[in-house]
Amino acid sequence: MAVVEPVILRSLKRSLRNLRGEKAPVLAGHKLLYRCNLECKMCPFWRREDEELLKLPEEIRIMDALANAGVSFLGFEGGEPLLRRDLPEILEAAHQRFHTSLVTNGWLLEHRLPELARHVDILFVSLDGIGETHDRLRGIPRSFERAVSGMRASRTEVPTVISHTVTRENLDHAERIVQLAEELDVGLTVQIAYDYRTADPMSPERARLRPTIERLRDLKRSGAPLMESQGYFDAILGSWYEGRPWRCKPWLTINIDPAGRIVLPCYVLQEYQGRIPVWEVDVRKLWNSFNWEPYESCNKCALACYLEPSLFRWTDPSHVRQRVVGAAMRYAQRSGRAPSPPAASRLIQIAT
Ligand SMILES: C[S@@+](CC[C@H](N)C(=O)[O-])C[C@H]1O[C@@H](n2cnc3c(N)ncnc32)[C@H](O)[C@@H]1O
Ligand code: SF4
Ligand code: SF4
Repeated sequence: MAVVEPVILRSLKRSLRNLRGEKAPVLAGHKLLYRCNLECKMCPFWRREDEELLKLPEEIRIMDALANAGVSFLGFEGGEPLLRRDLPEILEAAHQRFHTSLVTNGWLLEHRLPELARHVDILFVSLDGIGETHDRLRGIPRSFERAVSGMRASRTEVPTVISHTVTRENLDHAERIVQLAEELDVGLTVQIAYDYRTADPMSPERARLRPTIERLRDLKRSGAPLMESQGYFDAILGSWYEGRPWRCKPWLTINIDPAGRIVLPCYVLQEYQGRIPVWEVDVRKLWNSFNWEPYESCNKCALACYLEPSLFRWTDPSHVRQRVVGAAMRYAQRSGRAPSPPAASRLIQIAT
């Protein structure tokens, strides 16, 4: 702790300077395509037709626009990003500009890992239950087995995290997913399924969901490798069950669709439909003229990429401890060393 803390706090102060004052996105997500090799019940994206996919120079144009806007962390997803042959080149260009993450269903992970691992700071592999439950939700047999063998290969190459989506069909799997994460020695992040109009309604009923959220919060308290802060679970419980809303700050996160268009105001509202190509606007100007106010009290989703940064207060020492130093310690434990300054600042982005 003594070694990592000063490094992290120095990086933290740098990030703080960037965040003060005007609105700017800090995190970015980008779907590289909608196509997928699985057919998850709760997911609308594999059901969409892709337009012609962007080539590397256009992807770089997106990255430059995001970097100019102030983004420091870029996460790639889809559809299934590992279906793109040019993924290593895209990741390499991104890694020269940002801290990077990748979300995959894991089907092709073992096969493609060698060409991807060095350009990714954190790898998320989706798992929606154990064995047959995961396969049923994902629509394709053996998808559980493939995701787990992918993680067994990836965990020594790149920090790996299970991404678990809680649906009405896997409410009783949360605890076993925590056990699996511990057994594999990987991290875990959870989100609650949102009901998109063009997917099967899989969001759990609120009353049935509550014990699962409370259990996850308790597991977090007792040291489970959950990336979410305790405040994340408290915010969901507060807003959905106790009439205490959290204030959403959707401007901290920007999402870019496969054609390079900005998804406004956020991932969930308008069901991930892009509007304006990111290279055609001054994102900072747009961000500071857009009326975000109606969305501050929304509380419709519990996506960690919006909720966690919305909760974060740089001035709250417990946030710094829980999210930044906690993440750094987990990293140090896994890798057997304290993070370097770039890795520490990467952890701050991941943790926020
Ligand atoms: C859209 S997928 C894209 C990346 C990759 N195909 C995968 O499954 O990891 C990204 C994440 O969104 C989650 N997801 C899919 N449908 C969702 C929904 N209706 N609500 C919340 N999360 C959802 C998936 O479980 C996955 O973890
Ligand atoms: S959640 Fe991921 S794996 Fe499942 S269908 Fe959607 S894009 Fe594909
Ligand atoms: S709470 Fe509402 S405004 Fe905020 S990210 Fe979720 S859907 Fe968007």
